[in-house]
Amino acid sequence: MSKILAIESSCDDTSICILQDEKVLSLVTASQIDHQRFGGVFPELASRLHSEKISLLIIQACEQANVTLSQIDAFAATAGPGLIGSLHIGVMAAKTLAFRYQKPYIPVHHLAAHIEAARFVNPLVYPVLALLVSGGHTMLIEMDQPFSYHILGQTRDDAAGEAFDKVARMLDLPYPGGPLIDQIAQKGHPRYVLPTPLKDQALDFSFSGLKTSVHTILEHLKRSGETVVVEDMAFAVQETIVNTLFYKTTQAFAQKPYQTLVLAGGVASNQGLREKFTTWAKTSHIHLLIPPPWACTDNGAMIALVASSILHKGGQAPFDHKVLPNWSLTDFHFEV
Ligand code: KG4
Ligand code: ZN
Repeated sequence: MSKILAIESSCDDTSICILQDEKVLSLVTASQIDHQRFGGVFPELASRLHSEKISLLIIQACEQANVTLSQIDAFAATAGPGLIGSLHIGVMAAKTLAFRYQKPYIPVHHLAAHIEAARFVNPLVYPVLALLVSGGHTMLIEMDQPFSYHILGQTRDDAAGEAFDKVARMLDLPYPGGPLIDQIAQKGHPRYVLPTPLKDQALDFSFSGLKTSVHTILEHLKRSGETVVVEDMAFAVQETIVNTLFYKTTQAFAQKPYQTLVLAGGVASNQGLREKFTTWAKTSHIHLLIPPPWACTDNGAMIALVASSILHKGGQAPFDHKVLPNWSLTDFHFEV
């Protein structure tokens, strides 16, 4: 009956979870809307806001779970990848608590945690193929066993979430644009045609050309005195990104009979993406796991889940374990 307190602060969400044996006792998250005026995450501001909010959020998480800090068995934090200043706030808080209560400190890899969030739905059956789509990453990852990663393909430039956010900004929608494009696209119709990115380049992705295509159409409309139909442009962007992700993932699936397909990361909360994969999985009898939307975007629960597996194996890290802003998934070793 181990209780873990985990902290996620790698980007612009401060999220604390108390987990007991894979059951979420409490999850409190503060999302930093203050970045909207910059149209993206401003790192220095992100660190400041994490440090302002983190203590109160830890207290709230304890109150909601009805536990005291002295009852926690291990303290975990995202140690990378992410913004260096933001990571430091969460890691320092977790190390300080671990030191104060003489309990293990467990550093967790953010991307590994996104994939493990699927366990909130059902256990992973291996081999697993994971499509990880977030604000900073777009990857197809193969896992033959727990916590072992082989990267089959990744983006050569912008991540899928970044493409959503950048196009949203061009349409004067506030940051983060992904959820808004998703919502607006539901009311859109086919009107604008965007090229499908990197259809032939094995399992790699490329989304940077998308914003150029959108920009060209917007400029053309402006010159001819027409206004853009935002719903229809959102529809076109959503279709293009979802179709590309779907095409590459089904290509990977055709190469090996995976037991489970996991969709992970913030973009996995996209309705169009979820619907397309769910329909395909049903007709093709594929075991598909998509975390509920709250577990797709950054949250402390996914960090706690990985920490609980590490604690279970007796793993912990020394207090001088570093923050790793560029931590590669293939360097995440389970015995830290
Ligand atoms: O995983 P996440 O919360 O943070 C990172 O690790 O990056 O992902 C955030 C990204 C943002 O780019 C955001 O716009 C995108 O996920 N996102 C979405 C949706 N919800 C979040 N993109 C498309 N549709 C959504 N519903
Ligand atoms: Zn994330």
